[in-house]
Amino acid sequence: MKRRESFMQRLVIEGEKRISGEIEVQGAKNSALPLLAGCVLVKGEIVLHNCPRLSDVFAACRILTCLGCRCRSQGNTVTVKSYELTGSSVPDELMREMRSSIVFLGAVLGRTGECSLSFPGGCELGPRPIDMHISALKQMGVSIKEEHGVLSCSCARGLRGAKISLSFPSVGATENIMLAACLAKGDTVIYNAAREPEISDLANFLNACGARISGHGSSTVYITGVKSLHGCEYSVMPDRIAACTMLAAAAVTNGEISLKNARSQDIDSVIPVFDQMGCTVYPYDDRIYLCGKKPLRAVKTIRTMPYPGFPTDAQAIIMAALTKAQGTSVIVENIFENRYRHVDELVRMGADIKAEGKVAVVEGVKRLYGASVRATDLRGGAALAVAALAAEGQTVLTNVKLIDRGYEEIEKQLSLAGASVRRENS
Ligand code: UD1
Repeated sequence: MKRRESFMQRLVIEGEKRISGEIEVQGAKNSALPLLAGCVLVKGEIVLHNCPRLSDVFAACRILTCLGCRCRSQGNTVTVKSYELTGSSVPDELMREMRSSIVFLGAVLGRTGECSLSFPGGCELGPRPIDMHISALKQMGVSIKEEHGVLSCSCARGLRGAKISLSFPSVGATENIMLAACLAKGDTVIYNAAREPEISDLANFLNACGARISGHGSSTVYITGVKSLHGCEYSVMPDRIAACTMLAAAAVTNGEISLKNARSQDIDSVIPVFDQMGCTVYPYDDRIYLCGKKPLRAVKTIRTMPYPGFPTDAQAIIMAALTKAQGTSVIVENIFENRYRHVDELVRMGADIKAEGKVAVVEGVKRLYGASVRATDLRGGAALAVAALAAEGQTVLTNVKLIDRGYEEIEKQLSLAGASVRRENS
């Protein structure tokens, strides 16, 4: 599968061009990855449409290939044939490439009764523990050994359903348990489950393959184990964070955008923030229209929370728009410890932001200036691109590989809507 080598690439953005036009929202990365993991459970052929062409998706396909599946990608459709599995371990380099490959654990265990993978460790967002994943799988009868950074999991007598209470509604842990429970013996109940739309997308996909999952989208998810899953054809949900990114790009340039293939109900907590900034936002059918206002206004306090609260993945992107909003905005990041690394880079562009612990205070400035900046993580990188669109002069944004993990050719998307963005080899 072709992989774009983006680690030596940079984006060159000429600012102060008003965003205007219509953009189609890509399929959701955070849904495509667990769906691809789910393919491991299926004896058959799965055709996944609207799959974004992203480095993380290509990494998931390589994991599937390592496990013995046959994977083919054509445009935005990925076809996975998973009749026979030949392996149950995920190679270390693929685990390192994509931390969220931990979601393969539940699926591989569910299909083969064993799995070994290296411990995912931390990432750009700070420590990323998997204690809840491990404790849940243990409750389902899995024995887990951790030696030399490798997790060896086995379940000689097969997984069994369990009643599992999560101490925090972790997205990844909820997905892993759902995947492990599909083929387990008996019933599984997840209390305090994550309610993110991607959880419902995974449940809908697995149900289309013959699983019996209900309650998804609420805090209690029920899974009744079945004997086997069959193939299906399914379309990945639209990416709500990519949608927020394009709305922020239009807002910060006082532009106007119409998003196609967007689901406004998935960003119900973000739309009011654009309203408070003074933008006009109309959701209609599968579209969202936003018209920016000059100047933007600061917003009171934004607190990131598990869904249906304000998403942590939109925090950096909205902060970029607020750098030019009149007044003082306050952001409280409650989900990840280390999610303000983009702040120093925004400050290089002239933003006035003070971040300490969970809290960031953004004083709106009249002007941002183009600068040489570096993506610190996926969404932080996208935030720098958003700020650059509204900055005077040229911004050179490096470490583009992190942005490519979540955005399908971001430079093309933005250019289609009137921005001046080009990709160059460093
Ligand atoms: C997923 C998303 C990520 C998003 C996050 C929160 C994917 C591929 N990634 O990540 O983009 O930012 O949800 O919406 O879908 N935690 C523990 N122990 C655990 C598991 C999690 O302490 O066993 C903590 C984490 O450190 C973090 C919080 O719980 O502070 C939320 O993590 P979680 O919801 O699991 O996020 P991910 O599934 O990793």
